[in-house]
Amino acid sequence: MPDSPFDKLARQYTQLERFAFGEGLQHARTAYLDYLIGRRHLLCLGEGTGRYLTAASERFPNLRITVVESSAQMIEHAKAALISKSLAAEHVRWLQADILTWEPEETITVDAVATHFFLDCFLPHEVDAIINRVSTIMNPGALWFLSDFASNNRLDAAGLPLRLLHQATVKTLYLFFQSFARISGESIYDPLPPLQASGFTLLDKKSFMQHLVWSGVLEKESDS
Ligand SMILES: C[S@@+](CC[C@H](N)C(=O)[O-])C[C@H]1O[C@@H](n2cnc3c(N)ncnc32)[C@H](O)[C@@H]1O
Repeated sequence: MPDSPFDKLARQYTQLERFAFGEGLQHARTAYLDYLIGRRHLLCLGEGTGRYLTAASERFPNLRITVVESSAQMIEHAKAALISKSLAAEHVRWLQADILTWEPEETITVDAVATHFFLDCFLPHEVDAIINRVSTIMNPGALWFLSDFASNNRLDAAGLPLRLLHQATVKTLYLFFQSFARISGESIYDPLPPLQASGFTLLDKKSFMQHLVWSGVLEKESDS
């Protein structure tokens, strides 16, 4: 795999996140951790430096986890994050791959998928393609966990000054990630409608950081 533009961000990524957002993004990522009770195989897409992976491993040491992540450096940091918490890594399978071209093996099935701050890196047709591809390896009743920055139509609950602040924050984030990580995404595309059109039911969602960020959990319908 060629080097990923995210490689050069990996070392400072967690520090930058904490500096900009404190623990806000981590609260969103881990909001639905309890829903992993009874799940056996979790697929983490674009896991980054491993903050969700570590929290899930700590809480569910027997959970099998497959990580699909295009950046070798992010994978190294996620491995180090597990080690720093003295967590075993044998339950984790690391696949360095581009999700847009990843061909899952025929034998792989998962009962949970996590995309935290990941789908907003892509263009709408790429998000649709990711949902289509990944949903084929999800068992009926499997869960999709996601956290993202809120799109404009999810900011209705916020007052005008807060909406303007959120829009400026999101614009700045896109400029940053387009410049330094060459993401294709240009603005936030709400992933709920395509997920629901693909046979997922929204079980719950929550807002964080005064509606700047949201997190949700969806369930794959049995007959989809
Ligand atoms: C914005 S970061 C989010 C990281 C992490 N999930 C979090 O909650 O902070 C996006 C992550 O997705 C990875 N990524 C970006 N494009 C990808 C692709 N096409 N295939 C697989 N991983 C990708 C990046 O390397 C990075 O780790």
